Amino acid sequence: MERKPLAEAASQIASTQGLVAFTGAGISEESGIASFRGRGGLWDRYPPERFGTLRGLMAEFLLRPQRVAGFLQEILTSCLEAEPNPAHLALAQWETEGVLRAVITQNIDILHERAGCNKTIKLHGSIDRLRCVDCGFKQDLDETQLWGWARDLSLERIGRRQLWRALQKILSACPYCGGRRRPDVVFFGDLLPQDAWMEAQQAASLCQVLLVIGTSGLVYPAADIPMLAKKAGGILIEINPEPTPLTPLADLYLEGKAGEVMQELARQVTSIRH
Ligand code: APR
Repeated sequence: MERKPLAEAASQIASTQGLVAFTGAGISEESGIASFRGRGGLWDRYPPERFGTLRGLMAEFLLRPQRVAGFLQEILTSCLEAEPNPAHLALAQWETEGVLRAVITQNIDILHERAGCNKTIKLHGSIDRLRCVDCGFKQDLDETQLWGWARDLSLERIGRRQLWRALQKILSACPYCGGRRRPDVVFFGDLLPQDAWMEAQQAASLCQVLLVIGTSGLVYPAADIPMLAKKAGGILIEINPEPTPLTPLADLYLEGKAGEVMQELARQVTSIRH
């Protein structure tokens, strides 16, 4: 009798030491961070051609500074308030057990790290880091600084001058070369960080199983990762409440929410392994 996809996925994961995860915004939905596409998503409320590019944000800043402050404040606060859910925690557990080799993520939130994952490859940067546009120097920021930002941006009726002052404070000069700095996140039209991209391609082409969780698979070059793994002979397992362009490629499609499906998957993997 054919095994159910979840039982089959559990047996694949339980018997490998070459698991890599590829995650998108959907894995953090149950932690309270909105995804981008779909009803109520971030791009549903903030047009990506304006809020997803640096040039668009600058133009929006001149016209509607309050909208920019609201956008930045929502992303910051939701990322800071969120806690890892069972999907993040299961991946971290499998990392400690030597099953999971790496997490390749498109997310700029810090939930994989908070869950305890040490091998996280961040293709689209991270909310808790600044980068110097002149010398490339990267600086991690602690939560106190980030909460300070969120407070500065949440001023009632914030005007252009106040927002500019808050941004100046946030994006202070590079301590290394004195150059201008920006958040170390990837906007549309930006190149991916080359070191992370190289590492991700290598991890995907060497993995035995790629677990694709909560991504629409619409944004390239990140969406090439599942294809790379498949071409190299890896088994593709997808978790998503809705089918995506990746679903026809997947060996196993687990329909459902990441937190719920991963909780059951982790339970079954544990019962097989122990
Ligand atoms: N569990 C699993 N998947 C979910 C859940 C959930 N609880 N809720 C929603 N999803 C799925 C949606 O069905 C959708 O396929 O997560 C996916 C989220 O898709 P997007 O919002 O497009 O997010 P993502 O794929 O990560 O976007 C890629 O686009 O906007 C840019 O840079 C941004 O990194 C982002 C990139």
